Amino acid sequence: MKAVILVGGLGTRLRPLTCNTPKPMIPIANRPFIEYMLHRLRDQGITEVVLAVQYLAERFRAALGDGSRLGIKLHISEEPEALGTAGAIKYVEHLLDSTTFVFNGDVLTDLNLIEMLAFHRSKGSKTTIALTPVEDPTQFGLVDTDRDQRILRFTEKPRPEEITTNLINAGTYIIEPEVLRYVPPRQFFMFERGLFPVLLQTGDPMYGYPSRAYWTDIGRPHNYIEVNHDILIGKASYPFPGTETQNRVWLGENVEIADDVQIVPPVVIGNNVRIERRASIIGPTVIGDNCTIGTEATLEGAVLWNDNQIAEKAVLRSCVVGAGNQIGVGTQVVGGAIVSDGCTIGADNRLDKQIRIWPNTTLGDQSITF
Ligand code: GDD
Ligand code: MG
Repeated sequence: MKAVILVGGLGTRLRPLTCNTPKPMIPIANRPFIEYMLHRLRDQGITEVVLAVQYLAERFRAALGDGSRLGIKLHISEEPEALGTAGAIKYVEHLLDSTTFVFNGDVLTDLNLIEMLAFHRSKGSKTTIALTPVEDPTQFGLVDTDRDQRILRFTEKPRPEEITTNLINAGTYIIEPEVLRYVPPRQFFMFERGLFPVLLQTGDPMYGYPSRAYWTDIGRPHNYIEVNHDILIGKASYPFPGTETQNRVWLGENVEIADDVQIVPPVVIGNNVRIERRASIIGPTVIGDNCTIGTEATLEGAVLWNDNQIAEKAVLRSCVVGAGNQIGVGTQVVGGAIVSDGCTIGADNRLDKQIRIWPNTTLGDQSITF
């Protein structure tokens, strides 16, 4: 069984976290998301995967190679220009010979692929779209089906008055390669606004497969923090590195924690981390590799990537701190704030209200205090 993972998007909504790191490579609970995806596919019998990338292909090659480390055969296909979601599949059509899974590369889900495939076959479907319920479908592709689950309508990013169901395109498809005959080669062409509407007109059987599996699109900052929390509290299954040393506290190697540090689970801590005296680490919190957390600092609901130095009395609450940052004494990073990579933030700043600090920014002491 083969699959194509679409990873060509620019990850604009997650900027500045995606300035240096392609969206599928960003770590979730200390593990690059794409690695998790490849493991999950392999565990469900998909042994050959094409990554359809559009930029930073070298980063994918360096991290994943030919996939042998993960037990799959991996092809990395780089589009000469953005070809759109269906155009990207058309571009690798020569690698596909039978029923194929297609995944949006930014969806974290534990959807059962084997059951979805059985559904696809039982319906004699040519294109099957996994569906998931959401509260606000306006950010997604709305899918109406009849009682037999045959798709009647597909409306990408519907206006509020167009909402007729809470079921949306969950970003997992099964296609029979023959439907690619409707996709023009080497042209920008989307599934959502191109191929699906065409298939509705031609009458090729297209079905929706609804499921209540855990589902989230990690491509939005609020979702990114939430999905890390969901994994730590066990709402979504996602194997992450570390050894569980006490109830829901996972530690990497070479971790030094001073005696009077307060840790409230669930907490995941990477390798080579030092936590100094009287610091509080309140879960759900993720600390990447090579981080130092200073005396009396407080982390609560925070997601830290690798190589961060957090000075004493800093407060990091419901925020993301990318890689290689220095956070000054007493500085607060709270309220959904994002500090990206390589920043030096002086003492006694308050970064709040979803503020986004771009890579390599230097802020003096008390520069932002609103
Ligand atoms: N190779 C390639 N080339 N990949 C692309 C391209 C392209 O030109 N454009 C987008 N992608 C990839 C993105 O990297 C992402 O993994 C996936 O296709 C979907 O693109 P997004 O930009 O994240 O779309 P969205 O989240 O607004 O909407 C899509 O996903 C929703 C579910 O999360 C649509 O498919 C909606 O219908 C769907 O509900
Ligand atoms: Mg998306």
